[in-house]
Amino acid sequence: MTKQKIRNALLVHLVILFFFSTSVVSARVVSLLQNYGNPIFRSNFHSIYDTSKYGVFQLSNGLGKTPQMGWNSWNFFACNINEMVIKETADALVSTGLADLGYVYVNIDDCWSSVTRNLKGQLVPDHKTFPSGIKALADYVHGKGLKLGIYSDAGVFTCQVRPGSIFHETDDADLFASWGVDYLKYDNCYNLGIPPKERYPPMRDALNATGQKIFYSLCEWGVEDPALWADKVGNSWRTTGDINDSWASMTTIADLNDKWAAYAGPGGWNDPDMLEVGNGGMTYQEYRAHFSIWALAKAPLLIGCDVRNLTAETLEILSNKEVIAINQDSLGVQGRKVQVSGADGCRQVWAGPLSGNRLAVALWNRCSKVATITASWEALGLESGVHVSVRDLWQHKVVTGDAVSSFSARVDIHDCQLISRVSNHAHQ
Ligand code: GLA
Repeated sequence: MTKQKIRNALLVHLVILFFFSTSVVSARVVSLLQNYGNPIFRSNFHSIYDTSKYGVFQLSNGLGKTPQMGWNSWNFFACNINEMVIKETADALVSTGLADLGYVYVNIDDCWSSVTRNLKGQLVPDHKTFPSGIKALADYVHGKGLKLGIYSDAGVFTCQVRPGSIFHETDDADLFASWGVDYLKYDNCYNLGIPPKERYPPMRDALNATGQKIFYSLCEWGVEDPALWADKVGNSWRTTGDINDSWASMTTIADLNDKWAAYAGPGGWNDPDMLEVGNGGMTYQEYRAHFSIWALAKAPLLIGCDVRNLTAETLEILSNKEVIAINQDSLGVQGRKVQVSGADGCRQVWAGPLSGNRLAVALWNRCSKVATITASWEALGLESGVHVSVRDLWQHKVVTGDAVSSFSARVDIHDCQLISRVSNHAHQ
């Protein structure tokens, strides 16, 4: 690697964390940002980071106060799953330290079930691949301090043509609860043309009626703009079609999901689909950008690779505590795209407020060459005289102690610097 390349690589994925230490009262109270106002924040702060659509009819099962973290089988294994894979994955989440960092859901996706229901009309685990049954698997996973997720579909079949749960919501929810399942991903195939708004609430009610706390993850692919209605139905809702392991897919999905930022918050999250980090189709820089933007956008952090065989680079990305902390921040405001420059808008600044008067900022180079990206205080919603100390969350160090009015950095191709700010000498 040349010196220049090394320098650029270090700047990859700068998550800027900005902290402001004054106590401020806003004139205009909004649901999640009531403490963010003058003298640090510009009057446009609340329109840049609009949260006014958050939680009007929130489902209150007490789950999802921060975005869910864990693993899901689909992106790497697709239908090639069995109980050994799930058990070994649970073991690996613990042995790699990922479980301790918050990745607690072990989610089985499509293909766990037999192609037909039994004579009582119940779903049955595929006897070849899950011979011990799901209850035994839940017990195993719980024994490791983890949680088990399962998958079904708001239609007559799942996408891989296993039985779906439409018109069987109560029976299936009861069965999942009897197995000790903690999470349901509910897909959208073979849906008979019935609108999602009609097909998803019955499963919510059935899950609630079990009396067990089961995280409810809606997967209707953004078809009927779920951000506009799903907060009273589920704990998260997919906003897009399926991700694939490519830069083009990841960037497209990040942009589509961004549209709905104002609707997310504790208890109900936009879901731009599961992580592809570690699956091989993107560069190290691109995976750092993927992880940084998903963290900043308060997306579910569901690992989609084979955690039994992680490379050092993949583990480094997935286990960056400072980046995870952005995602799990208690304020729960989705970060968003706030500034673009360059001919095709490929120099991008994404940002979001954090608890404790801090801000996370990603400088994202989507151009095909190295670029200098500037985050202006104006675009971030800060008064220009505010003094900021900038911390690089990939280098794990403060890169400047006193930035005023803007911050710039050279960012490698397709890389993303994630930074945050600490200030002890706010605007005088
Ligand atoms: C759909 C979902 C995916 C995955 C597959 C499984 O495509 O969107 O996330 O669950 O089905 O068949």
